[in-house]
Amino acid sequence: MNTVHKLNAIKDYIYTVFNDDATGHDFFHMKRVAFMAKHLAVMEQADHFICEAAGWVHDIGDRKLFSNRAHALKELDNFLQSIDCTADEISTIRKTVEDISFSKGKTPANIEGKIVQDADRLDAIGAVGIARTFAFGAAKGQLLWHDHADKRDETSVQHFYAKLLHLNDSMNTAAAKQIANQRHQFMETYLQQFFREWQ
Ligand code: ADP
Ligand code: NI
Repeated sequence: MNTVHKLNAIKDYIYTVFNDDATGHDFFHMKRVAFMAKHLAVMEQADHFICEAAGWVHDIGDRKLFSNRAHALKELDNFLQSIDCTADEISTIRKTVEDISFSKGKTPANIEGKIVQDADRLDAIGAVGIARTFAFGAAKGQLLWHDHADKRDETSVQHFYAKLLHLNDSMNTAAAKQIANQRHQFMETYLQQFFREWQ
């Protein structure tokens, strides 16, 4: 298979795995991360096949979503073999996925990992990031916010202060940093408006 066919096969595989997720980790999250990773790879002159492929599969084996991590990763290996990915491709994709999901908060060693981590973080901020936060909060049964809430209570708005407003400072690549700044600004504006309307 050539790389176009491989990426198509990966897309179909990811559809079957994440199709019915309602926690913000649906097929379209994987698609946005894959496309953003490819874009960042072009900007940063990294391997765009590996970045796009790893973007598609980056949440496979995530402990929040899979009860048996080793099994999910083994299935991924088998699948990649079945579409003729080389041993090198499989090990780099696998390393990227493990680096991102084992080391939440840490920086992956290789450029592909850095890029996919940036793409995943970019999807948590901006307009789509806001939507995912409230979707995730609803799935957890969490309030949007409440009258006497402070920024430490477990509400969806609290998550902006706990995590999302810090992500633009944690981008690995210059290309991602630029996109993050614009999305960050949008979230600040959104929160100002949110609190104006809440009063
Ligand atoms: P990923 O696994 O894709 O790296 P996370 O699992 O950390 O990302 O988060 C998935 C989505 O859910 C993100 O958009 C994130 O902001 C949101 N999220 C995570 N924790 C919370 C929370 N406590 N309240 C609201 N949203 C959350
Ligand atoms: Ni993700």
